[in-house]
Amino acid sequence: MAEDEILLPGATDLHVHLRDWEESYKETVSSGTLAALSGGVTTVVEMPNTKPPIDNPEALSKRLELLESDSYVDCAVHVGLPRELQILSAMRREGAIGVKLYPKDFPRLREAFRAAHDQSLKLAVHAEDPEALVQDPVGPRAEENGVKEVCKVASRVGNVRFCHVSLASSVSAIAELKSHTNGVSFEVTPHHALLSCGPDYRQLPPSLNVRPPLRRECDRIAMFETLRNGIADFYATDHAPHTASEKESQNAPPGLRSLKFAYPLLLTELQDVAMACRLYCERPAAYLGETKGKIEPGMIADLVVFRTRTRPDGQEPEANSNEFDIVETGPFVGRRLGYKVEQVYKGGVLSYSSETGPLAKRGRREHSA
Ligand code: NCD
Ligand code: ZN
Repeated sequence: MAEDEILLPGATDLHVHLRDWEESYKETVSSGTLAALSGGVTTVVEMPNTKPPIDNPEALSKRLELLESDSYVDCAVHVGLPRELQILSAMRREGAIGVKLYPKDFPRLREAFRAAHDQSLKLAVHAEDPEALVQDPVGPRAEENGVKEVCKVASRVGNVRFCHVSLASSVSAIAELKSHTNGVSFEVTPHHALLSCGPDYRQLPPSLNVRPPLRRECDRIAMFETLRNGIADFYATDHAPHTASEKESQNAPPGLRSLKFAYPLLLTELQDVAMACRLYCERPAAYLGETKGKIEPGMIADLVVFRTRTRPDGQEPEANSNEFDIVETGPFVGRRLGYKVEQVYKGGVLSYSSETGPLAKRGRREHSA
């Protein structure tokens, strides 16, 4: 490796919405996971709000087949809460790793916690209270109430991962829950840690529409701090792509595209390689029970070679200083990245190179190894 390159573990992103199926015009499993691979993300966990949704064994089995044939990276799936909770055991056998709860599921919070616990499924929650969302879809009340409600239920059972936490007050409530309950964790997204809404939260450009919404600067700083000091358990994108024209319209749907740049962005902004790897590689892989996420003997060799803008001796290498990406579209437009993915290895096999592009899909043995 060159003196301005570093070798880091491949990242595991616990929260992505790959589209495909009826929403293939936004993204396919193939294009979304190629974005992941080329950004150094070698494992993704899918959310179930696809069209049609993954909330029954048939849809799950079709999805797992599609992921197996089309994905460039390793994938796991959270299913949606089915009407009949008994079918969770069939979905567990089929290969689901967890259940994702949405605001619409709040009336069934207790039974959902119980069922996930009984079936040894992970539970991930979008903790916004549906009634407060109706009254004010972009204010902080929905998350304040939602997190309180989930904490109440979780204090009996544990086993909960709070998705995309966006308020300082949520961090305090979750810290309190953690102090007496096992199996509690939370994710922080790049957008909640790096972007804020300005003084008036109703005045955001539609292109930045996302759920939960971008918050005030004080909350943004609080979320960034949870990454800096490792109080957040995981960095996870909530990658939720829409087309450029959808995002440019006045009624832009919620969701941001972020998988391709999430890892270099984290390394650049955090300026703490060890913490970045803990948040985006080691802890999420351990959460999934995977032997990856660390560069150690016995670990699966999902590895990324990054070229760095700053050499280990602190000098800026002139030769490559123009090679670094400035993000061209999307929520992080204009950001200069200090890290560039050069090569990605999956299980020790070269799977992507910045010069040649992707070399192998996961399921199809396109490479000779
Ligand atoms: C998600 C999507 O588009 O799939 N959007 C988002 O803003 N996070 C769905 C959702 O969580 O509402
Ligand atoms: Zn999401």
